[in-house]
Amino acid sequence: MEAIILVKAGGIENLKLADIPKPIVQENKVLIKVKAISINPVDIKTRIGKSLYDELKKDPPIILGWDVSGIITEVGSGVTKFKTGDEVFGMINFPGHGKAYAEYVVASASELALKPANISHGEAAAATLAALTAWQALVTNGKVSKGQKVVIQAASGGVGHYAVQIAKYLGAYVIATSSAANKDFVLSLGADEHIDYQKHKIDEVVNDADFVLDPIGDKNIDPSLNAVRKGGTVIMLPSFFKEQIAEKSKAKGVNGYYFSVRSNGEDMKMLAELLAKGIIRSHVSHSYPLNKITEAHLQIESGRTVGKIIVTI
Ligand SMILES: NC(=O)c1ccc[n+]([C@@H]2O[C@H](COP(=O)([O-])OP(=O)(O)OC[C@H]3O[C@@H](n4cnc5c(N)ncnc54)[C@H](OP(=O)(O)O)[C@@H]3O)[C@@H](O)[C@H]2O)c1
Repeated sequence: MEAIILVKAGGIENLKLADIPKPIVQENKVLIKVKAISINPVDIKTRIGKSLYDELKKDPPIILGWDVSGIITEVGSGVTKFKTGDEVFGMINFPGHGKAYAEYVVASASELALKPANISHGEAAAATLAALTAWQALVTNGKVSKGQKVVIQAASGGVGHYAVQIAKYLGAYVIATSSAANKDFVLSLGADEHIDYQKHKIDEVVNDADFVLDPIGDKNIDPSLNAVRKGGTVIMLPSFFKEQIAEKSKAKGVNGYYFSVRSNGEDMKMLAELLAKGIIRSHVSHSYPLNKITEAHLQIESGRTVGKIIVTI
């Protein structure tokens, strides 16, 4: 089968199209013929030798990618939930070696959900790592409830655009940030207020939020902590700021921390229901074929992606 191998850590020239054997299905796993994958900032961080690179290199060849949507072609002997021919989507083995940049991927049945019939494989592949992060941040960790004031930063990005929609579904009042160019897109997702982060820091506008999502970190940590009420929650997404958010939150009496998204089939099922009912939707701004995956990397690396980008196989 065709796969994209990362030959060594570094630039996009290290992503090479290769012909490798199809993976073998074990007991509780399924083999998926991949129709679409999506690309995330963690793919870039791992490609350049950070994030999960050291973990992945223990099991060569390194094949990046975690987000897939496709069709099951084989099931392991212990799998009862799915059958050959089912269309499924999910985030495979995160934080581990997902090996999704390939024509076929092996996944645990417990990480997958049936793809809603009303959305494409591309829209489904988009709604995996980014949508799971938004779900696990707002629901599992943040326990956001009706009437709460929620700030979603980088609301026009992969995680942010699902987070706005999920927060509205939960009944929250949503204040969302992006540049002016993406204001209309962010408001179209259901945000109640928009802040242009290039003109205002969020703590110039809000200081009593119940929950703040921070996908940025660094100089944005203090404004995030100032925007939340005492006892409120700030969730930090870039792992680089894990220690800083923990220390600064303690000093401010705020419940602030970094968390990492995890593969979870039950959460995927919830997302599938919301996608099927049209309560949330994927905004796919670019689509690339597998042999143009380097262009997809450059797009995510720009830090300016609107919604999600996908690669079709
Ligand atoms: N901890 C975890 O489990 C986890 C999971 C997923 C993602 N992450 C991390 O979270 C971060 C975001 O991921 P993503 O997939 O959403 O990225 P993304 O799709 O690449 O985000 C791009 C968006 O960010 C916006 N943006 C950039 N700088 C901004 C700023 N200072 N303020 C507000 N918006 C800004 C841009 O909007 P404009 O063009 O309008 O500026 C753009 O639309 C990454 O660092 C990623 O690695 C962590």
